[in-house]
Amino acid sequence: MSIIKIEDIAHVRFVAPDLKKMSSFLKDFGLDSTVHDDGRLYAHARDGIPYNHVTEQGEAGFQALGLRAASIDDLEKLAATNGLAVEDNEAPGGGKIVRLTDPDGFLVEVVAGQERFEVSDSPSDPIRNSAASRPRQSDTIRLKSGPSHVMRLGHCVLNVSNFRKSERWYKERFGFITSDEIEASPDLALGAFMRCDRGDQPTDHHTLFLAQLPQKPGFMHAAFEVSNMDDLMLGHAHLKSKKHKAAWGVGRHILGSQIFDYWRDPWGHELEHWTDGDLFTAKDGSNKAPFTDLLAVQWGMENPMISGKAAPGPKMLGFVMAIHARFKRMFGGSGAEKTS
Ligand SMILES: [Fe+2]
Repeated sequence: MSIIKIEDIAHVRFVAPDLKKMSSFLKDFGLDSTVHDDGRLYAHARDGIPYNHVTEQGEAGFQALGLRAASIDDLEKLAATNGLAVEDNEAPGGGKIVRLTDPDGFLVEVVAGQERFEVSDSPSDPIRNSAASRPRQSDTIRLKSGPSHVMRLGHCVLNVSNFRKSERWYKERFGFITSDEIEASPDLALGAFMRCDRGDQPTDHHTLFLAQLPQKPGFMHAAFEVSNMDDLMLGHAHLKSKKHKAAWGVGRHILGSQIFDYWRDPWGHELEHWTDGDLFTAKDGSNKAPFTDLLAVQWGMENPMISGKAAPGPKMLGFVMAIHARFKRMFGGSGAEKTS
């Protein structure tokens, strides 16, 4: 039994030397931002949550993962069990905050009681015709070019030094449920996609993915849900026209099923647009899946490490190729296995 069950991811926090440059990138990515009284740049999506991306001025890097608790009572429970204080959150929207440090030294900020701002309009999903069904008649699709409509922050991926230790730490405190555990071999876990425990309420396939890859512990990416597939593709064209750095996409993942599109901010932090992801309840259990399912796609651009278009460190490249070859031998392709 965990101390609390978090509702969702709340924010990701970075440091960057140029807040104007970050604000301009975020605008192209689909997030509006303003500098608050504390000198930090706060960006928000369209869901009424006061902020989900924060930047402080300084040497570039990742600073904190934010999670949202269901209530201030839950924050008090979390703080008491960890010998910590519940503090006022001085950021936009106020509320309360508890600051924890995970086993790799990542700062985890758990918030509750934030004021909600007005939800912004978003484009509705066009009526789509297919060969089997043709509901759009005497009507057209005319899309407006520009940045994607980012609805919300959905998940964060961290590389950790000891997956089992971090998994225990996050599950004991926040009630995460494994959706897919990634295996290098039957007894060697490389990480897991974990979702929130919201009982019967369907929730994203993953809110946090902890990986143990042969590279230094650190931030890997944060992912934002956009309106729909057209919106994601319009956002892709917009980011490309503004000459931002594409990282991977467009494609459809296997684990989580999302249509994805990864970009880098001016300092290399990876941010993802996604749409059409899987939703599960607490009862939907957990799966195990091979490493190849993590990097392979159902359609679209191959992972740059697999296709040789990215240059990972020699350790990482050797590791990926060895795992890839092993799973090709074992399964001849995909080999997800239901465990519960
Ligand atoms: Fe992702």
